Amino acid sequence: MNQTRETQPTLMQADQLTRHYTSARGPFAPKAIVRALEGISFELHPARTLAVVGESGCGKSTLARQITFIETPTSGSIRLDGKTVALDDRAALKQARAQVQIIFQDPYGSLNPRKKVRAILEEPLIINTKMSSAERRERVDWMMQKVGLRPEFGVRYPHMFSGGQRQRIAIARALMLNPKVVVADEPVSALDVSVQAQVLNLLMDLGEEFGVAYLFISHDLSVVRHIADDVMVMYLGRAVEVGAKQILFDTPLHPYTRALMAATPHIDPTARKVRMAVNGELPSPLDPPSGCAFHTRCPYATDRCKSERPELREVGQRQIACHRAEEVLTLEAAQTQD
Ligand SMILES: Nc1ncnc2c1ncn2[C@@H]1O[C@H](COP(=O)(O)OP(=O)(O)O)[C@@H](O)[C@H]1O
Ligand code: SF4
Ligand SMILES: [Mg+2]
Repeated sequence: MNQTRETQPTLMQADQLTRHYTSARGPFAPKAIVRALEGISFELHPARTLAVVGESGCGKSTLARQITFIETPTSGSIRLDGKTVALDDRAALKQARAQVQIIFQDPYGSLNPRKKVRAILEEPLIINTKMSSAERRERVDWMMQKVGLRPEFGVRYPHMFSGGQRQRIAIARALMLNPKVVVADEPVSALDVSVQAQVLNLLMDLGEEFGVAYLFISHDLSVVRHIADDVMVMYLGRAVEVGAKQILFDTPLHPYTRALMAATPHIDPTARKVRMAVNGELPSPLDPPSGCAFHTRCPYATDRCKSERPELREVGQRQIACHRAEEVLTLEAAQTQD
């Protein structure tokens, strides 16, 4: 529990994950490339949560689909328990998929409406284990209780449950096989605010108990503040700032992180005092800006920012991709005095 990140084993290590999609622009135009993910690297540790934040369209769900082996990345590699997963080997993929589970945003769409809850929860056991039907029944009952559902509800269909209860079923299904990693893609965004905290607390309690590593995707910084150990801020398919939650929330340094925080109510670091908000729309990943992709919206952009892409580098105890990271606080103070 009190182990630091450095002393814990690494459950998953993603290295330079990249995913491009081709998109048809019309019968005679050449196909365009959508650069959804442009080289993301991170590590996940037992009972810890890495939160991934960024605006809609920045590539969060694309990242989720690569690390859950739903899609194959254009390039990059994924290690599970120190072993590189052979992305072109069906048997290796099946094994890896059982170890990395996903919870989607929409508890209505992600559960098969024609199956009873018991069958939904049993399915991963039938496919991946040699458990007898009695053992499976016992495991399903136990897991339903773990997520706060009465086992006798197993004979009901998903539509007979509330949104929060359906997300509990999705959590139970994700944990059936004792996975190493659970990816949660906006798991509470579709729920009433009143049930969000219950589902988040359940996720955190079970994460600790099962020792799973979470990659938790959210566009909502107040949710991230509640659940994260570490935070990765994404912009147009790249990480722009990565670090421990406390450091990023206390002193966000990337102009984009600062703008996101300034735009979030109920968060009160220094950035809240700043009037800066992210102006304009997220540029298209079909034609990302040159240099620093944020330069079209950044108040501190220089000519260098327009031509030279900032690499992710260590600044203090965080990593940041900004040429002016060391100057940002001074620049901002000067701006707010005007
Ligand atoms: N299958 C696909 N084909 C083409 N473009 C895609 C596909 N999936 C996602 N994209 C594009 O990739 C970008 C990132 O999308 P996504 O990962 O869904 O972002 P987020 O989850 O952060 O909102 C978007 O511009 C989206 O339109
Ligand atoms: S590199 Fe330049 S444009 Fe990009 S965030 Fe930093 S100051 Fe702004
Ligand atoms: Mg998404």
